[in-house]
Amino acid sequence: MPKKILVAVALPYVNGEPHLGHIAGMNVPADIFARYHRLRGNQVVMVSGSDMHGTPTALKAMDEGVEPIEIATKYHEIWKNSLEKMGFSYDLYTHTHTATHKKTVHDIFLKLKQQDFLSEKTQKMPFSTTEKMFLSDRFVEGECPFCSYKNARGDQCDDCGRTLDPTDLINIKSKRDGSTPKFKDTTHQFLNLSKFQDALEEWISDKNDWRPNVKNQSMGMIKEGLIDRAITRDIEWGISVPIKEGYENKRIYVWFEAVIGYLSATIEWAEISGTPDLWKDFWLDEDAESYYFQGKDNVPFHTIIWPAILLGYGNLNLPTDVVANEYLNLGGIDFSKSKGHAVWLSDYLSRYDPEPLRYYLASIMPETSDSEFTWAGYVSANNNELVATLGNFVHRVLTMTNKNFEILSKPSRFGKTDLQALSDCDKALEDVSQSIQDRKFRSALQSAMKLAQSGNKYIDQKKPWFELKSDKTKAATTLWVGINIIATLRTVFYPFLPSTSKLIHEMLGFKENTLHDGWERKKILDDIKIESPSPLFKKLEDTVIEDENNRLMN
Ligand code: MF3
Ligand code: ZN
Repeated sequence: MPKKILVAVALPYVNGEPHLGHIAGMNVPADIFARYHRLRGNQVVMVSGSDMHGTPTALKAMDEGVEPIEIATKYHEIWKNSLEKMGFSYDLYTHTHTATHKKTVHDIFLKLKQQDFLSEKTQKMPFSTTEKMFLSDRFVEGECPFCSYKNARGDQCDDCGRTLDPTDLINIKSKRDGSTPKFKDTTHQFLNLSKFQDALEEWISDKNDWRPNVKNQSMGMIKEGLIDRAITRDIEWGISVPIKEGYENKRIYVWFEAVIGYLSATIEWAEISGTPDLWKDFWLDEDAESYYFQGKDNVPFHTIIWPAILLGYGNLNLPTDVVANEYLNLGGIDFSKSKGHAVWLSDYLSRYDPEPLRYYLASIMPETSDSEFTWAGYVSANNNELVATLGNFVHRVLTMTNKNFEILSKPSRFGKTDLQALSDCDKALEDVSQSIQDRKFRSALQSAMKLAQSGNKYIDQKKPWFELKSDKTKAATTLWVGINIIATLRTVFYPFLPSTSKLIHEMLGFKENTLHDGWERKKILDDIKIESPSPLFKKLEDTVIEDENNRLMN
């Protein structure tokens, strides 16, 4: 039975362009996971979109003296285009400023209210005396009362990851002009998280396949005791509050509505696909699985707040896993000078190909600890692994076949080494499969590359260039086995390098869609004709490293 799998990718704020850190932590692993499951024959829907509202976008708009919608729309387009160019296979990449999203948010808000999971309270919030406005979330900064981190924001501490209220901050200051706000009473709707304390604790306690950081951080926060959180704000930019009186000048808190984006995007996708009920397969069917790809700062929103909303609404599936990554840092150059600098995705794509980046980012993915992107590492991964190992193996086998055999036919007998090489293919399929299912993407990629390495060793050992002279049928066997390895490489690399995989697919003379083959040792034709192959990857000059490092420092 095919599984139903929701691949939910964090909805990025659109107050700036995507950089490599963003995509290494969320889009790359999500796309590997989605492509793998589609190839297996599972029913996958992969959704995300731009998180248009909230203080990040409002702040940026104020700085630039334009309306928030202009900023949000501008960066939404940039995000969408860059993600598409990278080959990320979204079934829908939408945004949260749509009618469907608003309707879904209002529906959930009202249902929670009706079930008594929301309550109105008056609380003191920071009010700027200089600007005459309430300051929430990213409008204020101060010291975290839990870990003493100095630049904690009004809704979260970036150091310890805890969710906060502005009243928690010690030495609170306006981020806009550094002034000290005074606290003024204001009325808001609160989500009664305390009512979900026990259910959440029970739900998380047996999540033993979650990454330890994700489980521990979430359990820690639950054990400290969940407190009710305001889910409306005194700001102008955001989704209206569906309450008749008193909320005209307030909006729904961005995190409360952004997480609902996963559901509304699935609904929108189903509508666009002409099967408006299909979203239910992924959200109502208890056997469906859902995986949320995130940066580590988003953990509590996905393991506590979102599940509480889902439980409160009733009947909607809770996350199967929240696959959170640590951070990707920019390394290899002087940090003090490079601080604040990043490799922007659109800039990268204007000069280089997507696939080497997909490969390198998967190979250094910050799965269990922070990792570093360096241009030296990037060039080395491209030249030593993609060009010299994978590309070289494919090229040498196909070139030799093309030059020496008009038609290569299936051999009648295999030696021990040949059979071993063929069973290495099965082993690679198994290992890559298991690791991806376990959300261990670096190890999956290593197992895939191992097959290219063992393929090279097999050819070195068999030396078909000698066999060609001594006994052409032996050379035919070696090359036929080599081509079978290539066919398997095509499969195991498909989740990581979809365009390369497609190219190999065509070089082997397969016509039908790559997705038709399933996750198994692809049978090559009994009589196969190989055209002269073109190289899969381009070698990069070492000067790229210096050029790019200089670019970062300037
Ligand atoms: N916009 C947030 C960020 O960029 C993430 C939102 S994830 C979602 O960090 F779940 F709210 F969608
Ligand atoms: Zn903290």
